[in-house]
Amino acid sequence: MKALILRAPHELAIQEQSLGPLPEGWARVRMLAAALNHRDEWIIQGQYAKIRYPSILGSDGCGIVVDVTGEDRSLIGKRVIINPNQEWGSDERAQSSAYTILGMPSAGTFAEYVDVPVHRLHRTPEHLSDEEAAALPLAGLTAYRAVFVQGGFTPDDTLLITGIGGGVALFALQFAFAAGAASVAVTSGASWKLDRAKELGAHCGVLYTTDGWWEEIRRAFGGFDLAVDGTCGEQFNRLVAIAKPAGRIVIYGATAGPVPMLDVHRIFWKQLRIIGSTMGSDDNFSQMVDFVARHRIKPIVDSVYALEEYEHAFARLRQRQQFGKVILRIAER
Ligand SMILES: NC(=O)c1ccc[n+]([C@@H]2O[C@H](COP(=O)([O-])OP(=O)(O)OC[C@H]3O[C@@H](n4cnc5c(N)ncnc54)[C@H](OP(=O)(O)O)[C@@H]3O)[C@@H](O)[C@H]2O)c1
Repeated sequence: MKALILRAPHELAIQEQSLGPLPEGWARVRMLAAALNHRDEWIIQGQYAKIRYPSILGSDGCGIVVDVTGEDRSLIGKRVIINPNQEWGSDERAQSSAYTILGMPSAGTFAEYVDVPVHRLHRTPEHLSDEEAAALPLAGLTAYRAVFVQGGFTPDDTLLITGIGGGVALFALQFAFAAGAASVAVTSGASWKLDRAKELGAHCGVLYTTDGWWEEIRRAFGGFDLAVDGTCGEQFNRLVAIAKPAGRIVIYGATAGPVPMLDVHRIFWKQLRIIGSTMGSDDNFSQMVDFVARHRIKPIVDSVYALEEYEHAFARLRQRQQFGKVILRIAER
């Protein structure tokens, strides 16, 4: 089969790869579409733990089951999405020490076929196209847990979502609105992305590149009750500054790097809660897929590239040009 192989840092190539025998209880999925995540970019740059070469990246995908080993072969021919969690474990509060994510170290979805245990497969919600379905798993799961499980979002909360062009951030926005959000502020590095977010219902949008951006959010809403942040970096203390008393800040990423001189005094004085969030349990994944189906949420697809155009796809992510998910179309149905 054809696969996009990471051979060394920054060294990607499409190569022929042989498919091994399918272990008992596994399924072989013919990929239709796969989505990029920032995780893939970190791995390409060599900025991720325990990287193995060569690897097939890709944690997200939608495809057709072509083979299953085991008794129940009813999934063959069905359109599925893949839960990218591997070995989350039985504790809903945090993943086990054996936890990994599909796509390095295990072979991922940037290929014509992917082999996964049958229990990783979920039927694709009918209202989604192949590209929309491929966009959902990793970013949808991360947003769902960050907003609802770790963030404890309720419609009374004033919500702030940072870097709204990002895949996780946009799911957070869509999920919050589906759950009845009434006051949502977003930040972005591009004004056209703020306009798009406002079209989706955001009430306040500010450019994080302008001085005093945080004051605009304070003026609009008096601050926030819950922030969902994938950025950290120097701006994080601004979130601490404009959080309302007893506010919560959920961190799921640190695209802008560590936080210099964390403002601990404000954190304890204002009784803030800073909460980490990574991916989500298998139960969270099922809840997220049900939530998307129930509310008929359509993931926002920024752009679609052929597998061979992977360089353009990754450049779009690297240069922060995207609004939503960047997709690789691998095959037609
Ligand atoms: N813990 C987890 O389980 C988990 C899961 C998924 C992702 N992550 C992490 O979360 C982060 C976002 O992931 P993603 O896949 O959603 O990424 P993405 O689609 O590439 O989006 C990243 C967005 O971050 C914003 N951004 C970048 N630099 C920024 C800065 N200096 N200040 C403010 N915003 C900035 C940009 O928003 P604008 O375009 O609007 O400017 C950019 O579009 C990554 O670091 C990723 O590794 C963690």
